[in-house]
Amino acid sequence: MKPLESLGEVAGKSVLLRADVNVPLVDGEVADDFRIRASLETLVWLLERGADVVLCGHLGRPKGEDQSLSMAPVEARLRELLAEQMPDLPSGRLAVLENLRFNSGETSNDSAFVAELIEGRDCYVNDAFGASHRAHASIVGPPQFLPSAAGRLLAKEAEVLLGLRGKPRRPFVAVLGGAKVSDKLGVVSSLAERVDALLIGGAMAFTFLAAKGHNVGASLFEADFVKECTELLNSNVRLLLPTDLVAKGPDSQIQQTGANLSEGWAGFDIGPGTAAEFADEISEAGCVFWNGPMGVFEDDRFAAGTKTVAEAVAHTSAYTVIGGGDTAAAAKAFGFATESIGAAAPDFGHISTGGGASLELLEHGNLPGLDALVEAVLIL
Ligand code: 3PG
Repeated sequence: MKPLESLGEVAGKSVLLRADVNVPLVDGEVADDFRIRASLETLVWLLERGADVVLCGHLGRPKGEDQSLSMAPVEARLRELLAEQMPDLPSGRLAVLENLRFNSGETSNDSAFVAELIEGRDCYVNDAFGASHRAHASIVGPPQFLPSAAGRLLAKEAEVLLGLRGKPRRPFVAVLGGAKVSDKLGVVSSLAERVDALLIGGAMAFTFLAAKGHNVGASLFEADFVKECTELLNSNVRLLLPTDLVAKGPDSQIQQTGANLSEGWAGFDIGPGTAAEFADEISEAGCVFWNGPMGVFEDDRFAAGTKTVAEAVAHTSAYTVIGGGDTAAAAKAFGFATESIGAAAPDFGHISTGGGASLELLEHGNLPGLDALVEAVLIL
């Protein structure tokens, strides 16, 4: 992958910039602008050097045109943030395309749509790390035809996550949470070969607990994946599961319990004993990767486990990488500094803008979007 400098003189050139500005919208407003902020460095770099930028991105997963997923609020926020850094920029130097996924050619990687995107452009920059696990038209198409470079955010994300696959400081501890083990089995298996300890919380822990023969009561768990979890439990990895839980009973009563649940009880958070054990592992680590909340942290009654893990990750002297929108949102909800997402933030070594992308890069060591940049044409 080549850096932005490889594009040479960009003044007066038309640059197609793919960014991941897929942010949550509430009532037509940007509810969290973290990915827009993370896209600014590359955009400013190009504009300051005189390029005309056509920025493109997707929002949500629309089926055809859907005005509730229009890029208009994203463009408005982007221009506001840009004006703080470049108040004198003529607005015409930046154009923002409508949601790429309004055209089905984006997700199907249709060559006619690629041709439309690159028409009139001189070069291409991919800064959309969070979307680079998708072999979509705007990600893998343009590098086949235009001189192409990696944006600053994408380059940094790739460096950090590939670094975790290389020689992380030991002990290397991965903390995984979130709802579904099926979404994460690939990365769990891949991490199992690299880490010194794998700490599992969130609803995904129940499929592992079921595999260990525990009664998971009414907790969310995925019966179809018990076999894979059993294999992982029988492998050499040091895999730590919850030993206590905060659970909700049939009459909605909340109680701390052991890891064996009675009928009708469902676990919604790791218990204090588990949280303390996880925090100890994190504090003694050399490198920590954290993806996914430990419980339903949006509800105060089930927030303590995730909060303890967030505190431990923020305070450890280990190099820390946190990834996925949920994880950054959890850290932010507990008051940790996440404003420098996509770069070193005061409380964390690196906050990834990619959810699926960061997991897939850790698992496979490559992504379609990164491969496309490596194989990009050389026409300068
Ligand atoms: C994300 O939100 O993780 C990226 O923008 C990719 O979105 P997608 O999962 O809808 O492809």
